[in-house]
Amino acid sequence: MCGIVGIVGKEHAEKIIISGLERLEYRGYDSAGLFVADTQQSHLIKAQGRIKNLSDKLTQDVQGTIGIGHTRWATHGKPSENNAHPHTSENGRLVLVHNGVIENFEEIRQQYLANDSFYGETDTEIAVHLIAALMEQEQLATKEAFQKAVQIIQGSYAFALVDKEAPETIYVAKNKSPLLIGIGENFHVICSDALAMLDQTNHFVEIVDGETVTVTADAFQIEDAKGNLVYRESYEAQLDLTDIEKGTYPYYMLKEVDEQPAVMRRLIQTYEDEQGNVQLDASLVEELAASDRIYIVACGTSYNAGLAAKKFIETMTHIPVEAHLSSEFGYNMPLLSKKPFFIFLTQSGETADSRQVLVQINQLGYPSLTITNVAGSTLSREAKHTLLLHAGPEIAVASTKAYTAQIAVMAILAQGVGNYLAIEAAQEMDIFHELSLVATAMETMISEKAVISQLTEDYLSNTRNAFYIGRGNDYYVSSEAALKLKEISYIQAEGFAAGELKHGTIALIEEGTPVLGIITDALTGSHTRGNLKEVESRGAKTLVIVSEEFARPTDQLVLPNVHPLLTALVSVIPTQLIAYFATLQRGYDVDKPRNLAKSVTVE
Ligand code: G6P
Repeated sequence: MCGIVGIVGKEHAEKIIISGLERLEYRGYDSAGLFVADTQQSHLIKAQGRIKNLSDKLTQDVQGTIGIGHTRWATHGKPSENNAHPHTSENGRLVLVHNGVIENFEEIRQQYLANDSFYGETDTEIAVHLIAALMEQEQLATKEAFQKAVQIIQGSYAFALVDKEAPETIYVAKNKSPLLIGIGENFHVICSDALAMLDQTNHFVEIVDGETVTVTADAFQIEDAKGNLVYRESYEAQLDLTDIEKGTYPYYMLKEVDEQPAVMRRLIQTYEDEQGNVQLDASLVEELAASDRIYIVACGTSYNAGLAAKKFIETMTHIPVEAHLSSEFGYNMPLLSKKPFFIFLTQSGETADSRQVLVQINQLGYPSLTITNVAGSTLSREAKHTLLLHAGPEIAVASTKAYTAQIAVMAILAQGVGNYLAIEAAQEMDIFHELSLVATAMETMISEKAVISQLTEDYLSNTRNAFYIGRGNDYYVSSEAALKLKEISYIQAEGFAAGELKHGTIALIEEGTPVLGIITDALTGSHTRGNLKEVESRGAKTLVIVSEEFARPTDQLVLPNVHPLLTALVSVIPTQLIAYFATLQRGYDVDKPRNLAKSVTVE
């Protein structure tokens, strides 16, 4: 959701900014813009829609040695060229890009900007006008006015500001929204995500909430909110350019689906020690083992992964697990147990809904763990413990490999805690062996693409809606399968507890309605089959995704057997591919679905 890039000290800043913005496309956006300058000239260009629309507007003369760029995902004000960033002060001198939401923009307008007129409808325009107003009214230099403005502004922000009268400095600040400084030879970059600027550098420095940074070609200076200078070491991004390129794949989503067996194997390598034991930080295992209830807090696909891991964790640790939606939990906190432990599941580590819960949990003093794909992300920094997903960058908006990696990491964690607590089920379990079987089973399903593509065409080509049904973990996978299908193919899909269908939703079944049943459980499989019969007799077109051990000759998709508590890792694969093929067959953009952002940094 919104992306910022910038560079100072290098020729053709415009080209670097465009390619950086392209690498941030995955975050979701609906307009884009850039500002570039050198001592002779400056250019401000914006476009609604794709970055291509912006790059098409760059004529030969648009060049610079300093620049800032932005992709905008509309929050205040509709997607339009006027509302696209960068925004300028009324005198045109200051140019600003912003991620986040300014909460007190109305108060700022009334108090400081009563006589200003505005060009668009964004809160960002208020911010840049405020900086200019502080320069004029209080005779402040650009940097001081910027620092004063960020003290006045409440809300979330990552800002990058350039003063056209001194186009050799980028002023940046951050609070709750991500922003990094990248270090090059005689130049510096700024970016919301290291992967945007990986072709320029792989040395980055984090900025902490409340800090401001003055960035020039040769140096950068970090100051805390009180104006004290801060020194911080840089780190090397553990990312490879090939990780973020599509290679021969038509879409990132397909590449990421295919990467899942390799991610399972990487997790085994990472978390297994030489004796075959689980390697985890001892204090994390002890704190979890001492808790009386585990609260998993997450959004979207990560929430679905939390649900799918619940039974495994409970079986291995004998600690009750609740999964909660962050946006609900934060404002309607249930009565907590006496010794709760919180797990924040978040692919990006930046989701604002989840972060607001973590802030509260930290205030209450409860122990927390963030399980994320992004080292150094906000939720990782702010939780007591972090476990990484090691899934490699996930660029397609529809999450696939992060979902399976989350379930696998939670299973490894549960095995570690169960072993520590000497729970019999854990002692009988060898999670690394089971995950290696899962990796092979995933490969089998991935190799069924032609069959899955044909089934998708047969079942989903003309439908407005579809249902996935299952019980227990198959229900949780049904929820994820339906989410995947609706977010990219726009087919109205619902995941349903198979037994609940007859209590209302069955009224929606018409002649030809696709109902896809997932069956991987001995106890409930026959009931789900019964529910499929119920809908069939009302006209539904049913498709069965079933574990080999329960398969019947007429079933359409058969999954290799894996450990009964880990079936979600395999049954989800055909559903990811069904969503992928349904989207392709309808002619939509698989990786960049409408209205969605990959990293949602507003509540
Ligand atoms: C967005 C994305 C979803 C994702 C959710 C949670 O809505 O579009 O794909 O599941 O955020 O993101 P997180 O980074 O916290 O896992």
